[in-house]
Amino acid sequence: MTEPTPENWRRTDEFLSDTLVGHDPQLEAALAAQHAAGLPAIEVAPVSGKLLNLIARISGARRVLEIGTLGGYSTIWLARAVGEGGTVTTIEAEPANAAVARASIDAAGLGERVAIRIGRAADVLPTLEGSDPFDLVFIDADKESNTIYLDWAARLGRPGTVILLDNIGRDGEIVRDDATDPRVTGTREALHMLGTDPRFDATALQTVGIKGWDGIAIAVIV
Ligand code: DHB
Ligand code: MG
Repeated sequence: MTEPTPENWRRTDEFLSDTLVGHDPQLEAALAAQHAAGLPAIEVAPVSGKLLNLIARISGARRVLEIGTLGGYSTIWLARAVGEGGTVTTIEAEPANAAVARASIDAAGLGERVAIRIGRAADVLPTLEGSDPFDLVFIDADKESNTIYLDWAARLGRPGTVILLDNIGRDGEIVRDDATDPRVTGTREALHMLGTDPRFDATALQTVGIKGWDGIAIAVIV
């Protein structure tokens, strides 16, 4: 048996990316721009970006909300999924990140589909009330605010809206009783919320690969 080591997870993930995602000049340019600007390499892995894209397409999402733009990598995957006339509203707290994302999204030919809202998500989200409900919400921002973001996703969605929450594994930290890192406790509280709040029906999958040991939660608004 191949040893289940991080190195072998990484090699297997690279094989899956090469085989199922392949060479993608727009996404590779977005990552190069993100790296050149000094942004952290904490975007989703290629296979996960494609998972977001596929779930958006399978669910027929036309209006997508993303919380946490970073350099626009996942935004591009989502903007491709909504198709012509679809929209992605993405919220980014750091203006410098938003500028990198704007350039990469425009270079990918998706500029008209994507509105970047600069500000803290807890401040921007209330301003989105009153518009048509979102079909899919991807949450990938400051983990300590995850329960606030889930609450807003429920308010800004409708029955059937898909919610995806990144980084639910955190190297297994979420099961440590002595965890004090607010990113860990915030994630664990979000998972409890998904499990107990009657507005959601959810599951989660652990992932291993080039981003280490982590995972993603998938929920639907009931
Ligand atoms: C971190 C944030 C992420 O969204 C991620 O996917 C990986 C790491 C972080 O803040 O360290
Ligand atoms: Mg993430």
